[in-house]
Amino acid sequence: MSETATHSADLGKTLDSIIPIMDLINGGHFHLSYWYDEKDDTPITEAGQRITRRVVDSLGLRSGDHLLDVGCGPGGPAVLAAELTGARVTGVSISSYDVSAATRRAEESGLGDRLEFHHGDYMALTFPDASFDAVMAIESLLSAPDLDHVLGEFFRLLRPGGAVALCHCTKEAEMSEELMEQFKASNMANQLPTLPEWIEALRRAGFVVEEYSQFGHRVFGQSARYFAAVDDHHDELVAKVGAQTIAGIKQGMRGFFDPGPELVGYAIVAGRKPAA
Ligand SMILES: C[S@@+](CC[C@H](N)C(=O)[O-])C[C@H]1O[C@@H](n2cnc3c(N)ncnc32)[C@H](O)[C@@H]1O
Repeated sequence: MSETATHSADLGKTLDSIIPIMDLINGGHFHLSYWYDEKDDTPITEAGQRITRRVVDSLGLRSGDHLLDVGCGPGGPAVLAAELTGARVTGVSISSYDVSAATRRAEESGLGDRLEFHHGDYMALTFPDASFDAVMAIESLLSAPDLDHVLGEFFRLLRPGGAVALCHCTKEAEMSEELMEQFKASNMANQLPTLPEWIEALRRAGFVVEEYSQFGHRVFGQSARYFAAVDDHHDELVAKVGAQTIAGIKQGMRGFFDPGPELVGYAIVAGRKPAA
């Protein structure tokens, strides 16, 4: 196996062990959640859907459009995007758990004829040029070994005038090397761009950036709620994967959330491939 293929297989295997746990907690949306303020007691799954809704809204999809969901997770965002817009959605993930969970979710939603999921590495996408109307990536690109390559592929895969939306953590201020390494290790990240760097990366790939929104305090800053969600499912999770695994997950979560919302933000950046 080549070095890249080995990396992909290892990453896929690691994700296969983590995602089922997050799937249980987040109901198919393996990303952070959005709360308006401390009095907002919306459950984590519904608050998670707010993120997907915002990303989908920023794409301006029309019924029949074809959306590519890059790093699709266990299918929650793709199913919601199809429900909200009437679009067709193709999802890609390096985790085979994701592909089977997303396929099952699509069938259960009754929208299976508009949703399909593929196992694959976004570093090596093989869809034809200009085959999508829109591309979204929710929390899937921090681990990219070469962000410019992936965004260049998004540009190739979109038809002229097609829309792109990225939704990820952002670096808000300098942090100690130790804190940064801990953050990266906790989510297998290879980078943590600032919001201006995300915008610049999209522009470098050829996109016109049309919208961006930073809302870290409402998402990343809500760490206590994510720990509470794990605690709410404690017995079920321990029965499923064992106490040691859950302790490891919580340790990883501490590494992820330790920088706090002054150092790590959360943003959507959306744009378009020029029409001509
Ligand atoms: C934090 S999860 C987000 C999942 C989904 N976008 C969501 O919002 O629910 C990150 C996702 O990116 C996928 N991923 C990470 N690296 C990938 C790669 N190189 N190729 C394809 N998928 C990848 C993981 O399998 C996982 O599904």
